[in-house]
Amino acid sequence: MGPGPIFYGVNDMKESNKPFDTLVKNIDNLLAPCLAQDWPNLPIDRAEGCYIYGRDGRKYIDFLAGFGACNVGHNHPRVVAAAQAQLSKMIHTAIGVTNYESLLYLAEELGKIVPGESNVFFFGNSGAEAVDGALKLARYYTRRRGIISFIGGFHGRSVGGTSVSTSKAKYRTGYGSLLPDVYFAPFPYPFRSKTPESPEECSQAALNALLNVFEYIIEPEEVAALLVEPVQGEGGYIIPPQSWLAELRKICDKYGILLVFDEVQTGFGRTGQWFAADTFNIQPDIFAIAKAIANGLPLGATAARAEIMKAWGPVSHGTTCGGNPVSCAAALAVLEIIKEENLLENARKQGTYMLDKLQDLKTKAPIIGDVRGVGLMTAAEFVKPDTDKEPNTEAARRVLQIALDKGLLLYPCGHWNQTIRLVPALNVTQDQIDEGFNIFTEAVLEVQKGQ
Ligand SMILES: Cc1ncc(COP(=O)(O)O)c(C=O)c1O
Repeated sequence: MGPGPIFYGVNDMKESNKPFDTLVKNIDNLLAPCLAQDWPNLPIDRAEGCYIYGRDGRKYIDFLAGFGACNVGHNHPRVVAAAQAQLSKMIHTAIGVTNYESLLYLAEELGKIVPGESNVFFFGNSGAEAVDGALKLARYYTRRRGIISFIGGFHGRSVGGTSVSTSKAKYRTGYGSLLPDVYFAPFPYPFRSKTPESPEECSQAALNALLNVFEYIIEPEEVAALLVEPVQGEGGYIIPPQSWLAELRKICDKYGILLVFDEVQTGFGRTGQWFAADTFNIQPDIFAIAKAIANGLPLGATAARAEIMKAWGPVSHGTTCGGNPVSCAAALAVLEIIKEENLLENARKQGTYMLDKLQDLKTKAPIIGDVRGVGLMTAAEFVKPDTDKEPNTEAARRVLQIALDKGLLLYPCGHWNQTIRLVPALNVTQDQIDEGFNIFTEAVLEVQKGQ
């Protein structure tokens, strides 16, 4: 068991001063079901590096890294030190009303790594806000109404983010009318493309469908932005052909549309370069970034070149806690760590190692229909044996549970939750990959045996 409850300076907590385990049992009365009934709701005490430590006294290897937010590992000492130093100096003031070091140094440092001239920033608290900011900025700058997003994409839970997300209809259900003037076009998903099969043909088919949107639904001159995840995350770790992204860039140039990359999940080294824009060598006009920016402290940003960002005049957008001093200080430490510990290189190296292992496992387990990876954004998609790639949600679910029971934390993605993502921190070692992957292999082979 972990330590008992520790409350600082709170007098009126006596009522709830119960053992943590009692609270865990009562979770359904404490948290909204959308949180309380997620999987696995593992009670934990602390986290360090690539590991989290359960209340059950067990050490779990973490191949989720806080939904891909903890790229430099849990509680990296330099992030902790930077945040602590800032905490003792100043927790929060009011952005815009005051200026502080961590904010401006961060903007300057980010400007050096965000590709192209996208070196002017609006800071918020989360990925959804970064996306909302990108949508607002694109409309504001172009004075056009249309947003085109791609099927299977996920962009957050705000009304804006929900309006442009289609990874699951359930995410949109029950909310009435979402943002108007949002349209959708297919994202190339070579593995699930019935016809045609090749990635290039699949890409062409997706482009034709986008051109049909212009032909039948909204003329390109009325479109403010194409919003895309360069690699779909929540939608299933789907890697599009580079040529498709290049064509999107050309279409945007032709019609004066802004290309927005949602790099909330792909950013900060996850794909083996600072951003997927580097990996694919495509320059978007606007970036939405968050998650790993501050290794899990709340922070996000919308980034664009000065010409676009400068349209966003006083009071046209704003925030209370965005660009929080502590989060910005942590983010500065994250940038230094990624550089000094060569984590981009390590992400590429360990990502290749992981993908090789996945490919090998696929040959032994026909329930794995496809394996994909770019940098340390790796995944396996499960299918029902002897079917035409029918999604195997149940097999994935069982693999997740068996792996957890054996000490490996994983999480699914994909429209049917049929895909398991393997996304450890970028400073994972080969031994740690082996440790986690051995458990994954045991779990997959056990489920395979029962098929
Ligand atoms: C690509 C992408 N965009 C936006 C978001 C939303 O980020 P947040 O949960 O920080 O609002 C996510 C979260 O998973 C994401 O993966």
